[in-house]
Amino acid sequence: MEIGRDWLKTIFTGGLAGKKPIIPIDFELLQLEAAKKLNKKAFNYILTGAGTNQGVLNNREAFKKYGIAPPMLQGCDKPKLEIQIFGNTFPLPFYFSPIGVLELAHPEADLELARAAINTGITMVYSNQASKSMEACSKLLVNSNHWFQLYFSKSRELVESFVSRAENSACSAIVLTLDTTTLGWRTLDLENAYLPFIYGKGIAQYTSDPVFTKLMNSGNYQDIPNSTQHKPGMFATIEILKSYPGSFINNIKTRNPAKAIRCFLDIYSNPHLNWNDIIWLRKITKLPLILKGILREDDARKALDHGIDGIVVSNHGGRQIDHVVSSLDALWQIKKTLPPEYPVFLDSGIRSGTDVFIALALGANAVGLGRPYVYALALKGHLGVETLVQNIATELMITMSLCGCKSIDDIKPDLICKNKFISQTHLE
Ligand SMILES: Cc1cc2nc3c(=O)[nH]c(=O)nc-3n(C[C@H](O)[C@H](O)[C@H](O)COP(=O)(O)O)c2cc1C
Repeated sequence: MEIGRDWLKTIFTGGLAGKKPIIPIDFELLQLEAAKKLNKKAFNYILTGAGTNQGVLNNREAFKKYGIAPPMLQGCDKPKLEIQIFGNTFPLPFYFSPIGVLELAHPEADLELARAAINTGITMVYSNQASKSMEACSKLLVNSNHWFQLYFSKSRELVESFVSRAENSACSAIVLTLDTTTLGWRTLDLENAYLPFIYGKGIAQYTSDPVFTKLMNSGNYQDIPNSTQHKPGMFATIEILKSYPGSFINNIKTRNPAKAIRCFLDIYSNPHLNWNDIIWLRKITKLPLILKGILREDDARKALDHGIDGIVVSNHGGRQIDHVVSSLDALWQIKKTLPPEYPVFLDSGIRSGTDVFIALALGANAVGLGRPYVYALALKGHLGVETLVQNIATELMITMSLCGCKSIDDIKPDLICKNKFISQTHLE
């Protein structure tokens, strides 16, 4: 994959031949183009934040607080972007965050993202709500690093099954997402009265699971939704019947799609999740365990004390709680309370190579890309995602070079200062 000067050369010489980059460079334009291409419900599902959207705005506002103060005359060409995590070398300090229901963006969904992961060497985190099973993705990612993101179901037997499948699918870490013990108040989805899971979308990890199949056939789950008020319309019924593996006719006969959706809605998440469940989960796998959704210093310390291998400082892209603190604001405080070598990742609000630089300077070991790659996937499939990675990596490289950073370890907090128009920051 071309990055740095080679990538710039390709872009500018392409211009000589009348070619433009295949996806917009600017995030706002990227989002705009994706909005034009995707149907409204699908696009809104990706876009929406919780409530008034203040959590999403906070994520971006946080980045504006920080300025970069580049030292001059440091003589730095071709900075190295590799990092080490859990004994593995990552070619770039970012990864693909777990994003559910990718079929809304691209028909090949997670498989198409896996192709981009192979071609860029970026770690893909399989979503618990994926549209393609982890086994199907792992068939493609034989030589590429990948992790599995878990939601803690009401059924521990199902959790065990997911974990053991992740181990068998050569996932090299488990990321347990803590912030979605119940679905957030997602305004645009509510306006559209649209939840993809009710159409059987984004439940491939479940419909491919033996424990789940047993549960859904236990006799408790016959019709959807769990109400007699609304029967699905004809188009919705067809979509539901097509969503389940196997033939359409068989799905009508067995009513498997309806059973699967009802069972999923009943057990997918456990609102009672607590630290005892974490202790149990820690015991059932030897894989590195990462907690995603940490925003407080006390929770970060508890994670460390519970033998957790790393944390993701994340507010789920502002989708769960309105007015939630931004991940970047939380990062600096959290990092200060942990041993310097403890792995701390960050997502929510990363839109460019410079954002990656700022997050790394404030203490993140690596960052997760989210919505930007979904839009790139929607526009140009795996080639779009690869281009996005090239753009972000190249901008990061240029910023590093201009700040005299020869490697990722050189990106230190003293390169960051508060912007003048902000009265207070964590750096004070
Ligand atoms: C459409 C969508 C689906 C998501 N699905 C999941 C998921 O299945 N599991 C999870 O842990 N996080 C999920 N997330 C959260 C992302 O992993 C990540 O935290 C978030 O996208 C970061 O915010 P950003 O996209 O604004 O940068 C999802 C986010 C979006 C936008």
